[in-house]
Amino acid sequence: MTDLPYVVTTSRRLDPELVARAQQWAERLGAPYVPRDDRSLTKLCAAEGVEAALTVTPLRVGLVVPAEDVEYFFHPSMARTRVRNIRDGMGDPMVRAMQLQPGDSVLDCTMGRAVDATVASSVVGEQGSVVGYEAHPLVAALTIEGLQSYEIEGLGVQEAMRRIDARHGDCREVLPTLEARSFDIVYFDPFFQHTVEQSQAMQPLRRLGLHEPIPAATYEEARRVAKRAVVIKRRREQDAPQLPAAARVVSGGGSRIEYVVLGPVGRDEPADPGQG
Ligand SMILES: C[S@@+](CC[C@H](N)C(=O)[O-])C[C@H]1O[C@@H](n2cnc3c(N)ncnc32)[C@H](O)[C@@H]1O
Repeated sequence: MTDLPYVVTTSRRLDPELVARAQQWAERLGAPYVPRDDRSLTKLCAAEGVEAALTVTPLRVGLVVPAEDVEYFFHPSMARTRVRNIRDGMGDPMVRAMQLQPGDSVLDCTMGRAVDATVASSVVGEQGSVVGYEAHPLVAALTIEGLQSYEIEGLGVQEAMRRIDARHGDCREVLPTLEARSFDIVYFDPFFQHTVEQSQAMQPLRRLGLHEPIPAATYEEARRVAKRAVVIKRRREQDAPQLPAAARVVSGGGSRIEYVVLGPVGRDEPADPGQG
């Protein structure tokens, strides 16, 4: 995990309600609250000897790294566009790889900003369920809060976000505690190893999140927990020697993404992933 010391503060506007919210965030995260005192974030961070400031403003809560001109905040990103594509019959490569149906249960082991989890939640609907784990405590806290409070109109996206059971936790530790065959689909989207063409939208999350590769033993645990399939997003033709054999690969459409589909324990061949 990227170790990024930070304090919690507010925007420059003097507002007791913002101060109270910032103090709540500080308490929740176990980070120091520091009054803004009309300072720039660069000055404030320098004075406090930290690299970053979680800044509570009327607009949003975001972690600003002034020296890198980076801000991380919760945003559903492409979730709405992907849900619209599905509604318009264009499908979605992740949903195809999962062969996701209304009523399915999904465990997202690398939740991040829960964009994939939101798309999955939209497809499985009220009869289904999506549980997501995120290892980084701050990313997890912002996603848990964002999923419950972010407002977005139309297509049932907001409702899909609210239904996600988002938790802080490391899937390497969580998976061994779960019952066998307790989720239809277990999903992983770890960071790609090569960053060259990484989307700009992913950069702030990449700065914060956990980068250690998922070990083979964790994928085996996932196969035990999955009823139907384990689905792993990766970059096309990327070396992934830690993946078990008997994997089937589903194309991510025109992009350089692909999905590795593994069958559950006891079944060598994954379920037919359908068209790629
Ligand atoms: C590429 S991002 C996932 C993006 C996500 N699919 C989305 O739609 O927003 C990878 C995320 O997985 C998290 N992560 C990495 N290893 C993890 C682990 N062992 N357990 C839980 N989360 C992990 C990282 O901190 C990061 O937030």
